Amino acid sequence: MESLIVNNLWKRFNATVAVKGISFSAERGEILGLLGPNGAGKTTTIHMLLGLTSHDEGSISILGLDMPKDRYAILQRVNFASAYVSLPGNLTIDESLYVYAKLYNIENPTRRAREVLADLEVDLPGKSLIGTLSAGQKTRLNICKALLNKPEVLFLDEPTASLDPDIAIKVRELLKKLRQNYGTTIIYTSHYMQEVEELCDRAIFLARGTIVATGTPTEIRERSKLKSLEEVFVTIARDGELRDSDEKEVR
Ligand SMILES: Nc1ncnc2c1ncn2[C@@H]1O[C@H](COP(=O)(O)OP(=O)(O)OP(=O)(O)O)[C@@H](O)[C@H]1O
Ligand SMILES: [Mg+2]
Repeated sequence: MESLIVNNLWKRFNATVAVKGISFSAERGEILGLLGPNGAGKTTTIHMLLGLTSHDEGSISILGLDMPKDRYAILQRVNFASAYVSLPGNLTIDESLYVYAKLYNIENPTRRAREVLADLEVDLPGKSLIGTLSAGQKTRLNICKALLNKPEVLFLDEPTASLDPDIAIKVRELLKKLRQNYGTTIIYTSHYMQEVEELCDRAIFLARGTIVATGTPTEIRERSKLKSLEEVFVTIARDGELRDSDEKEVR
């Protein structure tokens, strides 16, 4: 069953066309990587899926509902975390989780906050101010925050950016656990190709707003005849496309 269906999505910012008619879907419980060089349109796409920015053309269906028509209903059932969105620095961890749980009208916010932390086995100092946390702690808190409403679809924009390898492994384990325990669909962006190979069921490579390759990480690598997904990435970043040895576009 599909959690997400995107059809012919376009986004223009004045002279810049950030997203040029992309179509893709994600099945329930799938971990889908949205990849590509800086400026490819990944964040813009995620923002359109969340209704944070409007799309110029095309349609977005999430959990069978229409974005933006059913935005409110969708946002109650999905969530978002990004390495680049800060939580309020003058609140403690406990306070911030309480406030966010309240925003979702969760009945017992304190209990739900504790549940999320325990469930993910995330060891965070509840009484510490967010402003004093390390990048790794903030990232994990961000993900905890994103789980308060038990999202069926989770959007993550570079969740492992700026993490040390040890914490990055923990975050990856956490995402796998979510999918396994709750069947959460995860749409995420990352610049770490090794991570993508380990985590993603399927990947979509974007370049200059168009989809240039899709498939499992292994399929994409094999079709490209390149040695690694890292090389695939660099080729796409430099050439803006990916061709196989028969000069056909790899799709
Ligand atoms: N609010 C905006 N106003 C104008 N242009 C924008 C805006 N947001 C994004 N863009 C442009 O749209 C294009 C896609 O940007 P986007 O942030 O989606 O890329 P990205 O794939 O997330 O890149 P990165 O890997 O650097 O995060 C870029 O050319 C960017 O400059
Ligand atoms: Mg981005």
